[in-house]
Amino acid sequence: MRLRGKKGIRENLEAQKDLVVLDPKQYKGRWAELFGNDRPIYVELGMGKGQFISGMSIKYPNINFIGIDMYDELIRRASEKARAVWNEQEEGVTPPNVKLALTNIEQIEEVFAPNEIERIFLNFSDPWPKARHARRRLTHPRFLARYKEILNERGEIHFKTDSQTLFEFSLNSFADFGLQMTNISLNLHRDGINEEHVMTEYESKFVGQGMNIHRCEVIVGEEALRNYEMSRLNKYK
Ligand SMILES: C[S@@+](CC[C@H](N)C(=O)[O-])C[C@H]1O[C@@H](n2cnc3c(N)ncnc32)[C@H](O)[C@@H]1O
Repeated sequence: MRLRGKKGIRENLEAQKDLVVLDPKQYKGRWAELFGNDRPIYVELGMGKGQFISGMSIKYPNINFIGIDMYDELIRRASEKARAVWNEQEEGVTPPNVKLALTNIEQIEEVFAPNEIERIFLNFSDPWPKARHARRRLTHPRFLARYKEILNERGEIHFKTDSQTLFEFSLNSFADFGLQMTNISLNLHRDGINEEHVMTEYESKFVGQGMNIHRCEVIVGEEALRNYEMSRLNKYK
């Protein structure tokens, strides 16, 4: 596939102000204003080509979704995907509950104010397998501290990966950071494709290769923790 020159991609993104946010720091504390409503905001960090965020935005129209990536070309690909899935609902419509933001996750606290978002999805984050790169893993405690700050009282992190070593590292990191984990799975699609969960591009590829997908949910906000405490033993009845 021939990729367009960088200049062409930037022009393309600049022409999509209804969907693409090239300077997301200016919306810190004002994302609800940008969406035009107070619905919960769910964010995918490192969305790639946007299959997950697009599918989720259709499945949950009453949630606002923000997809984040650091590459212009991926934002462009995700914008095409989001428009395509929403076009199937209504021709020419701007996806009403989606924004695609260009930023580096290292600067996430400059993009969101404290308590501004309700859920973070980490899907197939780069595993950074070398020990000396552990600090770059998106589930490292130095990131968890930032996520805790921007998540609200109902806040949760939902994490999926094919990498057993990243999963092991992450479970330990969540535990060491004092976070409650739930719905842990070592093989999400053990009984066939689990339709409850929207798949990402990487997930489709890895499942096609017969690989196991690991998943867990992490409870961060105080209200979410209270709700979890009240319901946790019910599933064993
Ligand atoms: C392995 S891909 C997974 C893509 C997608 N979530 C999926 O499951 O198909 C990781 C993505 O995270 C993005 N990414 C990695 N580090 C990032 C960072 N520091 N800031 C923003 N995006 C990042 C990459 O550009 C890439 O699109």
